[in-house]
Amino acid sequence: MQPQVSGTEGYAAEADQLFVRYENIPPQQVHAAVLHLLPRTPARVLDIGAGTGRDAAWLAGLGHRVVAVEPTEALRIRAMRLHASPAITWIDDSLPDLAALSARGEQFDLVMLTAVLMHLDDAQRRRALPNIATQVAPRGTLIMTLRHGPIPPGRRMFEVDAAAVVAPMRQLGLDLELNRQTASVGAANQAAGVSWTTLAFARRP
Ligand SMILES: C[S@@+](CC[C@H](N)C(=O)[O-])C[C@H]1O[C@@H](n2cnc3c(N)ncnc32)[C@H](O)[C@@H]1O
Repeated sequence: MQPQVSGTEGYAAEADQLFVRYENIPPQQVHAAVLHLLPRTPARVLDIGAGTGRDAAWLAGLGHRVVAVEPTEALRIRAMRLHASPAITWIDDSLPDLAALSARGEQFDLVMLTAVLMHLDDAQRRRALPNIATQVAPRGTLIMTLRHGPIPPGRRMFEVDAAAVVAPMRQLGLDLELNRQTASVGAANQAAGVSWTTLAFARRP
């Protein structure tokens, strides 16, 4: 059996429920704060920690080519079937290193990191940020959400402060464009009192 990727604890066991939960959240609502920052013409998009493929499918439907990175096999295999599309390429890879993705040598106009960074501890996050930043093409956009609130049993999560991301990203050539606090869209997280910070960055040319 493959060793479990750090951060994915609990996801495979809950895959059935997560497909119902995540697929019933409209992506336009999750990303309401940043809809105006999405590319308006067909673009190269990377979704890191793509989960059930909800956002990858949405973005492919908008005309983009999407690379979806997801380390939890129980999500990835099923997501590939549910959202079968020639516009989506699925990759088995993980933060902090993104080794398989980086070996492809691509860059992206838009990089999405939705509800993922909280799975890395401080040392992993510091290692991950350069590997995320390097995926963003010059003038490209990076959008991420940071989770705040109680940690569900069985999950490995950490509180991430926006400042712990914004300053290193600036050093890496990505300037903050947007910092917005938002309530949860999903009913379960709403009930648990989970809230989010949405950050968007622009890569200097
Ligand atoms: C809360 S879910 C979010 C899924 C999707 N982005 C969404 O918004 O519906 C977190 C996702 O991050 C993935 N994940 C956990 N640890 C990871 C890691 N080290 N690298 C990349 N993805 C990871 C999980 O497998 C899961 O699919």
